[in-house]
Formats: sequence, structure tokens, C-alpha cells
Amino acid sequence: MLKFLGVYKSYALPYYAISNINFSLKKGEFLFVTGPSGAGKTTIIKLITREEKRSKGKILFEGVDISRIPKRKLHIYRKRLGIVFQDFRLIPYLTVSENVSLPLILRGHRKEETKRMAISALEELEIIHKARELPYSLSGGEQQRVAIARAIVGNPDLLLADEPTGNLDPMLSRKIIKIFQRMNLKGITVIIATHDSSLIEEFGEKVIYLSYGRVKKIL
Ligand SMILES: Nc1ncnc2c1ncn2[C@@H]1O[C@H](COP(=O)(O)OP(=O)(O)O)[C@@H](O)[C@H]1O
Ligand SMILES: [Mg+2]
Repeated sequence: MLKFLGVYKSYALPYYAISNINFSLKKGEFLFVTGPSGAGKTTIIKLITREEKRSKGKILFEGVDISRIPKRKLHIYRKRLGIVFQDFRLIPYLTVSENVSLPLILRGHRKEETKRMAISALEELEIIHKARELPYSLSGGEQQRVAIARAIVGNPDLLLADEPTGNLDPMLSRKIIKIFQRMNLKGITVIIATHDSSLIEEFGEKVIYLSYGRVKKIL
């Protein structure tokens, strides 16, 4: 599904944030990308979402070189992705249910269908009872569940998360990773970037260890 072939990214030459990254991910796999702060984890996520463009090398999504997708067609590619951030990024003046509905509305889904899909995502994340609340009245763990509901509501093929547990305590962090595993069992391919190597060990998933922008090992 996803292949990095000799990928380099420089924000300002002569420095490279990542260098010669090679890995591939099959449909249905679950991958952690880890390494200390500054190792290049966020850069890898941003290259996949095409928020940033690679400097050298190829990133293939289902065989298509994503750096060749023209800007006007990026939304078609991004429909295939769901994205979760450390700071949740919920819209503060919209209710939980409106936050989760928004990606569908923007894609032109009909009202009834939007409602049905939003309810199903909120039920999946066990946060339906907060549907009418505003984000500020939810705990961090609850807000992250809403953010995951928003990321999966459009049935993405690839779910990306950049430090999704960064604002949560260790117990909640485990719960959130377990939710990603549950999404993975439903067929969604998952990539989680996290500096927290102690968190990932117990899950037994595939791990890429980065150090100074290079792959140190893949387990
Ligand atoms: N927008 C940017 N402009 C310049 N340098 C950046 C930018 N974003 C990241 N970097 C640099 O790229 C390297 C990797 O950063 P990042 O991918 O954010 O690492 P991580 O997520 O593992 O902490 C760091 O040296 C960082 O300072
Ligand atoms: Mg980062």
C-alpha cells in the first residue's frame, strides 16, 4: 500500500530532516514510527499527507508516486487518509457531533448519510453520549476519541497519528493505542508516530526506529 524508496527531506539545505528512508507497508499492517525528538517522525507523517514534499526519492501509495499528484487532485488522495494529532485539533465552537460530521459535509455527503456515519463513528469510539457537548467540556482522553472518530468517519484506508498520546497519561495512552489496534483489526492500515518507546513495546507491532533522520532498525 505504501512504499518509501530512498526518501530524503530537507527544509533548509544543507540539513536533511530525514535521509534515505526505505520501508514498505502492506494493507492491513500496523506500524509504529519511533525515535527521540527531532528524529524525523513528524516529517514522515507530513510527507505521507503531502503537507510537505520529499526532496529526493519516491513515496508510492498503491503504486502512485504521491509527489506527482497535482494540488487540485490532492483532496482525492487525502480522502483515503485519516489523521489524528497530539493536540486533537477539534473545532472549539462546534459540538462533538458537528466536529465528526464536518469532513463528510466538506466532501458533499448528504445530511442523512452524514448523520448516520457520524453516529456510527461516535458509537465505535464509545463517545456518543457526548455528541451534543462542546470539546472543552470533555477530558483529554475523550477529546482524542472524538478526534479518532473524525479521522475514521469517512472510512479511510490509512490512519495516521502523530504523537496521539502526547497529552495523555500512561494508562489513557495504552487505551488509545488499543483503540488504534481495534481500528486496525477492522481492516484500516495504521501508522503511529510516537517518541514513547516504552508505550509501544507491549503491543508487539512492527516498529521503525529513527535516529537523526535515518532508519536505525526495523523490528
Ligand atoms: N518546518 C521546518 N523547518 C525547518 N526544519 C524543520 C521543520 N520541521 C522540522 N524540522 C527539522 O527536521 C528535523 C526532524 O523534525 P521532526 O520531523 O519534527 O522530528 P520528530 O517529529 O521526530 O520530533 C528536526 O531537526 C527539526 O528541527
Ligand atoms: Mg514530531
